[in-house]
Order: sequence, then structure tokens, then C-alpha cells
Amino acid sequence: MQPKTGIHSTYSSPLDTAAIRKAAMNLDDGAVTEGYRGNREAILAMLNGALATELVCVLRYKRHYFTVAGPGNVPVKNEFLEHAQEEQAHADQIAERIVQLNGQPDLDPATLVQRSHAEYDASDDIRAMIKANLIAERVAIESYRQMIERIGDTDPTTRRMLIDILAKEEEHADEMRDLLD
Ligand SMILES: [Fe+2]
Ligand SMILES: [Fe+2]
Repeated sequence: MQPKTGIHSTYSSPLDTAAIRKAAMNLDDGAVTEGYRGNREAILAMLNGALATELVCVLRYKRHYFTVAGPGNVPVKNEFLEHAQEEQAHADQIAERIVQLNGQPDLDPATLVQRSHAEYDASDDIRAMIKANLIAERVAIESYRQMIERIGDTDPTTRRMLIDILAKEEEHADEMRDLLD
């Protein structure tokens, strides 16, 4: 059956075999082929900003995890640790994607805080800790939302990774808000 709408009609055109053959060359480019439609430099810059943000989030949650005290605070302490581990997993995913795109993951501790969208926090009070984390999660959510919007469908792999991370940050924000109630 022939598709009725214009949006499906491109499926009927044959694949671009010339571009596919070209992909067999330029092996030094690894995963990046000539048909890659992303703005590589802009995407690498966004990913490095996200990497710095995730690493600062790891440090903030770890600080909170180690310093929060009191038997009543054990569930919150565990939540902080879980989030620290998940932010580390995000940082690893992002660094790996940067390398796939032939970029350099920036892990320089000297400039980490300036390059991060979210802030470090060394509060002593548990409520202040939770609030700082909620703020950081909301900042992360908005920054990922904007990245996904900008990338659009030009780089589906990066987009999908960012959507998965965004979903996790939304979960984190929700969990922090529940702890404030
Ligand atoms: Fe994260
Ligand atoms: Fe998070």
C-alpha cells in the first residue's frame, strides 16, 4: 500500500548509496561519517558543559552523603549516595559520547566550577542540603531541555542519551522535593 501523507513519502526513495560507500572510508573519523548532520563543535561544547555539571553534582552529593549525620537521616544519606552514583554514570556516558564525536572530554578540575551549570554546596544543615540539590537538579533539567531542543534530529544518538539523562534528573528533582515536604 502506498503511504498517503507527505511525511512518509521519503521512505520510498532509495538510500544514498554514494554516502554509504563514503562511510567505508575516512576510518580515522571513527563513528562520525560524512552524513553526520550535527553541528559537532556546538554539540561538543554543550556536552562538555554537561560533563562539568555532572561532575560538580557528583562532588556535591558525595559531600552531603559523607557529612549528613544522625540515625533518622539514614534514608536521606542513602538517597544522596544513589544520586552521586547516578550523576557519575551520566558523566561517564557524556565523556564517552564526546570521544565518539572525536572531541576531548574536559575533566580539568581547575575550571570545573566555572564550566558547570549547577553549583557545589557544603551546607551543614540537611534541609539546606536537600534544597541545594533540588536547585541543582532544576538547573540540570533546564540545561538538558535546551540541549535536546537545539540538537533536534541532527544527532539522534546524542539526543537519545540526553533524553535518558533528563528523565533521570526529573526523577532526582522529584525525590528531593518529596524530602523537603
Ligand atoms: Fe545527572
Ligand atoms: Fe541529578
